[in-house]
Amino acid sequence: MRLFIAIELPDEVKRILVHMRRDIPGARWVPQEQLHLTLSFLGELEDTAIQRLTGALSGIHAHGFELRFSGTGCFPSPKQPRVLWVGLEPEPLLNSLAALVRKAVLSCDIPQEERPFSAHITLARLKLPASHEVAAFLDHPQKQKIPTVRVSEFILFQSSLTHQGAIHSPLKCFRLA
Ligand code: 2AM
Repeated sequence: MRLFIAIELPDEVKRILVHMRRDIPGARWVPQEQLHLTLSFLGELEDTAIQRLTGALSGIHAHGFELRFSGTGCFPSPKQPRVLWVGLEPEPLLNSLAALVRKAVLSCDIPQEERPFSAHITLARLKLPASHEVAAFLDHPQKQKIPTVRVSEFILFQSSLTHQGAIHSPLKCFRLA
């Protein structure tokens, strides 16, 4: 199974994020129901590894926190945008949760990216260079304020790749204190 660990967003927030879409050539916008905050991408795992991992994730003791949205941005750079995202205000409890999740995943011998956790919600992936349109998106992100989100759990998701795109299904929720 192909898996990842993420924080789910309320429908109200997802609806606002969808309104941030702009006409950008080659942009594949993340479908509304799939918008999430990724904590860890795991890739393909066997059943035994999944069992070990859920044990390790259940052992995480972390506090709940709030997500406060900030501006938009892109990876890797505005000159060569590949991913458009909306960012979050710095939240130490989110960073510490991401670090605990990473440690739990590594303890199960599942490799993780070296680069540091950078809290973002991917809105679109770009297939074509579109730096002008992206500059407009970055300069005028959206008018509607995104409400603060209270986070009380994180979720292990399965991502099934189909001809219609990925389908994300929650496998297990892990409560925060
Ligand atoms: P991101 O776009 O939020 O940064 C589920 O596929 C999530 O895992 C994606 O939203 C993506 O996070 C993250 N991810 C990281 N590496 C990935 C990869 N190689 N393939 C697919 N998703 C990946």
